Amino acid sequence: MGKSGNNTGSGNRRPPSERKQLCLARPVFFIGFMGAGKTSVSLYIARRWKFSSIDLDMYLERREGRVIRDIFAEEGEEAFRLIETDVLREVGTSPSPSLVSCGGGIVERPENRELLAQLGCVVYLRVSADEASDRISNKKSRPLFNDLESARALCERRGPLYEEAADVIVNTAGKSVGQIGYEVMGALKRRPELWA
Ligand code: S3P
Repeated sequence: MGKSGNNTGSGNRRPPSERKQLCLARPVFFIGFMGAGKTSVSLYIARRWKFSSIDLDMYLERREGRVIRDIFAEEGEEAFRLIETDVLREVGTSPSPSLVSCGGGIVERPENRELLAQLGCVVYLRVSADEASDRISNKKSRPLFNDLESARALCERRGPLYEEAADVIVNTAGKSVGQIGYEVMGALKRRPELWA
């Protein structure tokens, strides 16, 4: 029998799992170094699956009424990290779970790592500092991406923290947003605890 032998003429040949609206039971957190593509990939998946997507940095800036560069300049990194934890808790415990792209330093505080583990599924998009540098157009908005040497050291130091926090790891080198998104979607579908 040919491939269309069982087709009753509905025209919809996608598997049932693709047809019904997927619904998140827990948030999905995207982590990784600056320039890893966390926001782009989160938006890509949000469009495909009709989920909401929240960029934690943008949420934080709106809530505080200041851009991150100014928070760093006026109060320093430690103050920023405290606000970041507060925002992570606020977004992560929302009754309607979303795709959440986190700032690259979210893994710095142990409290954040605990929150990520408790609240949702963590997707680590792995990137090297060199590749990230090529991808980032506006480095001025990122106070911790000063020069390539220090970015390399920071990326290397954070590597084990990202790995440890991750439930899913995707290498992003040489891949498009679509390719990465597709890979992540496949990995998420295989996690039953994620779906309502
Ligand atoms: C930071 C990354 C930035 C932003 C802030 C600090 C970091 O987010 O949260 O500048 O410590 O790596 P992105 O990873 O979205 O650039």
